[in-house]
Amino acid sequence: MMISNLPSSVRIVEVGPRDGLQNEKQVVPADVKVELISRLADAGLKTIEATSFVSPKWVPQMGDNTEVLTRVLAQPAPGVAYPVLTPNLKGFEAALAAGAREVAVFGAASESFSQKNINCSIAESLERFRPVTEAARTAGVKVRGYISCVVGCPYEGAVAPHKVAEVAATLLEMGCYEISLGDTIGTGNPASVRRMLEAVMRSVPVDKLAGHYHDTYGMAAANVAASLDMGVAVFDASVGGLGGCPYAAGASGNVATEDLVWLLHGMGIATGIDLDRLVDTAAWISAQLGREPASRVARAVLAKRAQARSAN
Ligand code: HMG
Ligand code: MG
Repeated sequence: MMISNLPSSVRIVEVGPRDGLQNEKQVVPADVKVELISRLADAGLKTIEATSFVSPKWVPQMGDNTEVLTRVLAQPAPGVAYPVLTPNLKGFEAALAAGAREVAVFGAASESFSQKNINCSIAESLERFRPVTEAARTAGVKVRGYISCVVGCPYEGAVAPHKVAEVAATLLEMGCYEISLGDTIGTGNPASVRRMLEAVMRSVPVDKLAGHYHDTYGMAAANVAASLDMGVAVFDASVGGLGGCPYAAGASGNVATEDLVWLLHGMGIATGIDLDRLVDTAAWISAQLGREPASRVARAVLAKRAQARSAN
């Protein structure tokens, strides 16, 4: 891999409170979600996806969306954006009523995944997103676009790069300011991610792309490195490596935010994030959920701290 034109800084979109928690079987109280978001802002995250305005029948964990967003927006951290997912106009209207200033629509490059996740075809989903982007424009709300299954689908296997490019071009044309490319099941590797990015970059400028890589097979950091090399400078990540998608069985969390920050800082790329505070947050939310942080970096930092304490 050739690491050549590295960006001097990267923007990290923290998706832990949404992508991280949406698949949790135990009910996570709104208090914990609100505190998690506040701790992430204290660690230096400037974009924190707070919740999703999807059907509570489909994703019960996000059923407290209005309470969470309203409470977060009652005391917003300076300069922090709190986007939320909105699959349709109903979700958008609820998000707007709760005070959202940024939303995200989410489609897929695989027909089967689109059906399982949002109960419609890719074409139908794009028609559903159009009124959302129009209403958002009228309300002065920013819209991000997600595409799931950009390299692999749990139902269809390998996904053709041109499919991703087609959906990405439509989302851009609709007015999405950024397209986040989701390796939902983490089966991508630097070669397949590179092929996918090459296809997408023929229709969408690289400064409008973000990488959203799940770490199911431990390839997320490698896929970030390959994407950096291609000029991508925005990455989604989940504190503590929390998460998965309820409609992609076996998929694990996004690249852990700590792993991403460690990688980027080690490469001399600024993020504005305080790694120690982030590790504290990973340890805190993991304890709330009754487990150890999944992230290698959090574990290593915590082990080093424990060693230093026992040496003193
Ligand atoms: P549907 O059942 O086809 O919707 O669901 P419908 O329009 O036929 O409505 C059926 C019922 O749902 C009605 O209520 C609606 O009012 C209600 P009823 O009359 O039966 O009482 N409804 C809603 N309620 C609350 N909020 C809404 C809403 N819309 C309809 N927004 C729908 C279609 C899209 C709503 C459903 O399939 C859904 O909620 N899916 C969400 C799935 C989801 O959240 N998946 C995880 C997020 S995506 C992801 O994780 C991938 C990503 O991270 C990138 C990656 O990693 O790949 C982004
Ligand atoms: Mg995801």
